[in-house]
Amino acid sequence: MTLPKVYVTRRIQDSGMKLLDGRVEYEVWEEDRPVERSELLRKAAAADGLLATLSDRIDDELLSLCPGLKVVSNYAVGYDNIDVRAATDRGVVVTNTPDVLTAATADIAFTLMLASARRLVEGNEFLRSGEWVTWQPNLLLGADVSGAVLGIYGMGKIGQAVARRARGFDMEILYVNRSPREEAERELGARRVAFEELLARSDFISIHCPLSDETRGLFNESTLRSMKKTAYLINTSRGPVVDQRALYRACSEGWIAGAGLDVFDIEPVPLDEPLLTLKNVTTIPHLGSATVRTRESMARLAVENLLAALEGRRPSAVVNPEVLDGR
Ligand code: DGY
Repeated sequence: MTLPKVYVTRRIQDSGMKLLDGRVEYEVWEEDRPVERSELLRKAAAADGLLATLSDRIDDELLSLCPGLKVVSNYAVGYDNIDVRAATDRGVVVTNTPDVLTAATADIAFTLMLASARRLVEGNEFLRSGEWVTWQPNLLLGADVSGAVLGIYGMGKIGQAVARRARGFDMEILYVNRSPREEAERELGARRVAFEELLARSDFISIHCPLSDETRGLFNESTLRSMKKTAYLINTSRGPVVDQRALYRACSEGWIAGAGLDVFDIEPVPLDEPLLTLKNVTTIPHLGSATVRTRESMARLAVENLLAALEGRRPSAVVNPEVLDGR
């Protein structure tokens, strides 16, 4: 029996890799950097399945070269690296890893909120550089998170998990979402508002929407100028939802108090990015789902999705179910 051929674009946790043994014939890009485009095109062309990460651009060009490709399993919940329409048109199933990273991502959003408000990174640098000579009544005063107004843009699973954490901090929760989230309103006292109200009233805005044509550049000069001067913007979704040039001006010219960022327009963010010069901007390298347990769960789920699609079963997280339903 010939086994399906799979290309894995990055070595993921053993909890996932070992599930491939004996079920598929696979090759892995072993280097600790994204696979080169030419190599990806070459390997994908001969594959039945791809296990991809958000560093891989799975576009129409690539898909057009892969006559045998049945599935692209993304090791991420977000899938803006994949042209899903092109995959659907070609009958390629696309899967992702929702749910397993909800808590970890909500935790990192909250971490960035607390770190920004309480000037954690500034404090760390102040201490280590030997500037701390005495306790001072006015040393590195920050903003209160407890009791503040939290605006959540995108009340999906991660947004709701952030709201649950915010309840423990006695925060008032506002949200923007296409459809109402009645359970979150009932259980967490969250209130759905217009985007304008979210901007005008929130002390913290946390972004939890996918990147799409609708959300690209949503936080721009006009919307950032509509935020409170004392407010913080937290982004753990995708960099391009925020216009980085406008955010630099917002944080350096005092339109808002600061920002906490896990994601950037270009990743890794170039070291000459002006935002990196600002003390009121806390930055981390796309760590939203980066816990041992979460990444192991993502690895298992990504491989299970891949195997299910290759073995004719329905994967548990399908982005384009119309491909399966139309069969
Ligand atoms: C995702 O899953 O989309 C995160 O950005 C990376 O884990």
